[in-house]
Amino acid sequence: MKAVVMKEVGGTDVMEFLDWPEPVARPGHVVVEVAAAGVNFMDIGVRQGMAWTDIPNPKVLGVEGAGRVLAVGDGADEFEVGDRVAWVYAPGSYAQRQSVPTASLVKIPDTVDDRTAASAMMQGLTASHFATDFYPVQPGDIALVHAAAGGVGLLLTQIIRLRGGRVIGRVSSEDKVAIAKKAGAEHVIVDTEGQFANEVLRLTGGEGVNVVYDGSGPKTFKGSIEALRRSGTFCWYGPVLGGPGPLDIMSLPKSIKIGYATFMDHIHTRKLLLDRTKQLFDWLGDGTITVTIGETYRLADAARAHAAMASRATTGKLLLIP
Ligand SMILES: NC(=O)c1ccc[n+]([C@@H]2O[C@H](COP(=O)([O-])OP(=O)(O)OC[C@H]3O[C@@H](n4cnc5c(N)ncnc54)[C@H](OP(=O)(O)O)[C@@H]3O)[C@@H](O)[C@H]2O)c1
Repeated sequence: MKAVVMKEVGGTDVMEFLDWPEPVARPGHVVVEVAAAGVNFMDIGVRQGMAWTDIPNPKVLGVEGAGRVLAVGDGADEFEVGDRVAWVYAPGSYAQRQSVPTASLVKIPDTVDDRTAASAMMQGLTASHFATDFYPVQPGDIALVHAAAGGVGLLLTQIIRLRGGRVIGRVSSEDKVAIAKKAGAEHVIVDTEGQFANEVLRLTGGEGVNVVYDGSGPKTFKGSIEALRRSGTFCWYGPVLGGPGPLDIMSLPKSIKIGYATFMDHIHTRKLLLDRTKQLFDWLGDGTITVTIGETYRLADAARAHAAMASRATTGKLLLIP
């Protein structure tokens, strides 16, 4: 079969589209035919050697997708050949077929198509955790959402609105403004230099926001703190783009609460994965929320998808179609 393999740590040039051994259904795993694989910012981090370093190179990139069960290993009886399934945090998705541990796998209801399911796993579960657990948004709350036209940003904005919250988005270019507004952002600030805080304060009558969701790297960190109101919450979640470095806790203003939301803490039990994906699929199935697929690429063009995402030119979800 064909797969996108990183032979070593590096830029997009280390990604190769080549023949790779067929997966087998080991105990506790199923083999799936991949219908769509999600591209996530974390895949860029994996390629750059920031994550999944315990899996030796060469290795197949990608951690998310949707498709159909082809073979079931011992002890994987929750699933049957032919089931439509989606998965997240299971390495090796940039491939025609993949062996996925059942712990990472859920069934897709008939109301949700494969591409939508593949788009919602990482970014949707992240967004729903951020708005319901990390900071449970209350009606009337105002949130600042960075990269508001991106994969996480568009879903997060919709879920905040669903809970009665209001959203100020921050994006890097004018052409992303309408996309963020369509998802429900009331105001969208265009900024790449960390100069957004005064505008947020102006829009909130000098008060600042209840919560800021920031996965946009060191440049936004200071402004995000300035944009918070007293006792506001800072949800930091951008390990690939990087953090602010060591922090003196006594330098933090306004009694703010600050934390790093890591993906595996969102869905650290099977029950959480099942409950959260069910809620997302219900919302997606009845149109309460939607995913925006910004672009689909052939598997062979995965390097082009990574380059586009890193260039800040993309919006919504990027998918690879084997
Ligand atoms: N902790 C978690 O659980 C978790 C889970 C999923 C994703 N994430 C993080 O969430 C963020 C978004 O991920 P995603 O997969 O949904 O991607 P995405 O938002 O679809 O794309 C990344 C966005 O980040 C911004 N960006 C790209 N390169 C940048 C750079 N060099 N400097 C500053 N901003 C840049 C761009 O938005 P603008 O150009 O509009 O600023 C771009 O749209 C990433 O930081 C990712 O690591 C964290």
